[in-house]
Amino acid sequence: MHNLSQDIERVLLSERELGGICDALAAQLAGQYADSGRELVFVAVLKGSFVFAADLLRRIPFPCALEFMKVSSYGAESHSSGFIQVHLDLKRSVEGADVVILEDIIDSGRTLQKLSGLLAGRGAHSVRCCTLLDKPARREVKFEADFVGRCIPDVFVVGYGLDYSERYRNLPYVGVLSPTVYAGKT
Ligand code: PRP
Repeated sequence: MHNLSQDIERVLLSERELGGICDALAAQLAGQYADSGRELVFVAVLKGSFVFAADLLRRIPFPCALEFMKVSSYGAESHSSGFIQVHLDLKRSVEGADVVILEDIIDSGRTLQKLSGLLAGRGAHSVRCCTLLDKPARREVKFEADFVGRCIPDVFVVGYGLDYSERYRNLPYVGVLSPTVYAGKT
């Protein structure tokens, strides 16, 4: 059997640390939304955020809805912020709702910048972004999330929903992928 953990150079965030991060984010979200009087809609961006969304939402003790979207962002030379392609869209309106987009990681910032603009344009009362991980060193457009679990250095991370070539999403922790796995392939 190929054990995925043998491809991991080091654990960056253990299951315990990830639990603590989700606890802290849930507390921040409660402070912002628990008594808002508006509908709260979480929009989890597939695929990477599925584990984070599942862990975070189980820590939210007040009413909320969960929706999923799948999008790709591209950096187009002719557009400073690129554009976004929607592969799976919402089946409902978010008009008047407080929307929180859930992401596993922010790199260039293009995905969240474009997606938050798209949802704001649909009449949401507010659109905020909550990311488990943030790599500020990789930013290509001006974008900051409202809720950030952990800022990390520019290392190749997998696990807890994050993949390399569709593998490693099922690791229960966030680890740094050994360069031997992707040497000559990226
Ligand atoms: C990753 C991640 C974010 C996006 C962040 O998704 O989940 O959605 O890239 O990058 P950005 O800040 O440079 O826009 P990916 O396209 O790898 O798809 P996946 O979630 O299905 O793995």
